Amino acid sequence: MPASSRRPLISGNWKMNLNHYDAIQLVQKLSYLVTKDDVERVDVSVHPPFTDIRTVQTALESDRIPFFLGAQNCHSDDAGAFTGEVSPAFLSKLNVRYVIVGHSERRQIFGETDEFVAAKVSAVLKHKMHPIVCVGETREQREAGSTLDVVAAQILGSLAGRESTQFLDLVVAYEPIWAIGTGLTATAADAQEVCAHIRGCVATTWGADAANSVRIQYGGSVKAGNVPELMAQADIDGALVGGASLDADEFARIVQFPSA
Ligand code: 13P
Repeated sequence: MPASSRRPLISGNWKMNLNHYDAIQLVQKLSYLVTKDDVERVDVSVHPPFTDIRTVQTALESDRIPFFLGAQNCHSDDAGAFTGEVSPAFLSKLNVRYVIVGHSERRQIFGETDEFVAAKVSAVLKHKMHPIVCVGETREQREAGSTLDVVAAQILGSLAGRESTQFLDLVVAYEPIWAIGTGLTATAADAQEVCAHIRGCVATTWGADAANSVRIQYGGSVKAGNVPELMAQADIDGALVGGASLDADEFARIVQFPSA
C-alpha cells in the first residue's frame, strides 16, 4: 500500500477498444473477480469508449457493481456547435465519476494544448466529476534530460486556474509516453522521482494541503507483475492501465496488488 493516507485508485482506460456487447462481458467478468474486500481498499474505475458508457452504467447500477464509471475525454463546453464532441454535462448525467483529460494520445494525435486541457479540467470539476489529468514526457525529452521540466510545465499549464481546495477532487496521471503500449515501464524509482516532483510542483504553487491530497497515478505498461513495486512508492497512489485493463484476469490481479 502507498505510504500515505490517500486512497489508491486503479483505472482501466479501454481506449478505442470493445463495443458495448464486449463491454458488458468485461464488466461482468471483472465483477466476479474483484471482491468486496478489494474495493474496500482500492477505488476502481473503468473508462469505456463513449458508445459503451450508457450500457456500462446500466450494468454497474443494476447489478450494484462497485466500480466507478469513467470517460476518456470530454469537451470544455456544456453544449453548442461542436460536431462530434462530448459534453461534460451529459457525462455527469450518466453518473460518470472520473474523466481522463489531456491523455498523451489526445495531446499528440489531436493537438490538445495545456490551455484546452485546463478548460476541460474546469468543466469536469464544475459538474462534480473528478479529472484524471495526464502528463508525461516523450522518449526524446527523457533522453535530453528534460523530463522534470516538461512535466512541471504541463502541470502548471493544465492546472492553471485551480484553487488549492480543488486538489482533493483531482487526480494526476504520470504517463511517460515512451512507456505507453510499448511494454517498457519506467522503473519504480524513476516513476517515483517524477511523481514526487509533480507533488512538489503542486506544493510550491498551491500549498502543502493541496499536494498531500492530490492523488497521483502512474501509467505506462502497468501489469500485475510490476504494480506492487510501483504502488509501494511514497508518491504513487494508483495506476492508469491501458492494454492490461482489457483482460479481466490481469486487471483484477492489478486491482488486487499485494503489498511489495
Ligand atoms: P498501456 O497500459 O497500454 O501502456 O497504456 C497506458 C495508458 O495510456 C493508459 O492511459
